[in-house]
Amino acid sequence: MSVAATHELFVATYGRRPSAVWSAPARVNLIGEHTDYNGGEVLPIAIGQRTYVAIDNAAGSRTRAVSATEAGSAEFDPRRPERTGRWGDYLAGVVAVLSGRGCAVPALDMAVWSDVPAGAGLSSSAALEVAAATAFQSVAGAAGDPFDVAMIAHEAENGFVGVQSGIMDQFASALGRAGHALHIWCDTAATEQVPMHESVLIFDTAEPRSLRGSRFNERRAECDEALRLLRGRSPGVTSLAQATPELVRAAALPAPLDRRALHVSEETRRVGLVVTALAGGGSVPGALLYESHESLRRNYDCSTSALDWFVERAAATPGVRGARLTGAGWGGCAIAVGDSGALEASAPLIAADFEAAFGRVPRSWISAAAGGVRAEPM
Ligand code: GLA
Repeated sequence: MSVAATHELFVATYGRRPSAVWSAPARVNLIGEHTDYNGGEVLPIAIGQRTYVAIDNAAGSRTRAVSATEAGSAEFDPRRPERTGRWGDYLAGVVAVLSGRGCAVPALDMAVWSDVPAGAGLSSSAALEVAAATAFQSVAGAAGDPFDVAMIAHEAENGFVGVQSGIMDQFASALGRAGHALHIWCDTAATEQVPMHESVLIFDTAEPRSLRGSRFNERRAECDEALRLLRGRSPGVTSLAQATPELVRAAALPAPLDRRALHVSEETRRVGLVVTALAGGGSVPGALLYESHESLRRNYDCSTSALDWFVERAAATPGVRGARLTGAGWGGCAIAVGDSGALEASAPLIAADFEAAFGRVPRSWISAAAGGVRAEPM
């Protein structure tokens, strides 16, 4: 359906068939929030929502792209991609990074289709960057190793688009595997696949957000400052995640850096506990999700009343084991884990109560861990 829709958009726009269609998934993070850019661990899954990119070589010298969901077409010279502040930056950014690595991407005609909601904290940008990076590499005749693709997409987001994100989103989109969560040690970019057989309820609080406009870069700067102060006391500490909670407490950093640092230190340790439970054939320990949410709310100050409402409502629902905000926060999505029947049955009830409380219509999905970037059959 989605491949066909991407195909159709390409044909309707350019009057011929595309030569290839690639797709990459969105993600939710099970646990390990705001740890990736602090040298910590994360545990995302790729989800069922994907972004599809149809391509073919262009006749002219400019790359053109249309999107079924984003307004306005994008157009740029692939030999000199420039930042415009619009959605085409995700494509131009990937072309810029590739050309910086000696991989010249030719001018292309492109059509983009996606069922990843933008601005919901599900990494719509990473899905587009990863699908585009893989498509561009294949057109340019370069081998599309998913690890390289993730690195290229991450560099495009940071260096070109200008969001100082960590590596989690692009890694989940490029390296996700069906039935598995992706455990990433963000200090070394080492990864392992961890069996993850349960589905997750994803609840979008419909509070639009964009990392470009959020306090994300401000938090990064606070974490850098907290690390600098910690290292003044303990020069051996190389990252905030590496500092133990005891060390952070003993350092008595000035507020709010003390709370930011404590969140990062404790959160990265929770990742290890969830990985151990999953690797042993168990399910996601719900109590750790509640702890994570509480720390994001109190220590990292990135929750909202709508996200808190969802977590409390989920906690009061029989059969739900755990819930927390997922992604950067400041709006966007939360997740819940529990009995699959309970998740299915409670989703519409929670949505109705949410609408009554907030006057906004939320969206929700139930997703298993899905596969990463791939070529779609034509
Ligand atoms: C955003 C960033 C990620 C990560 C999360 C918070 O999604 O893109 O790199 O920092 O926020 O965990």
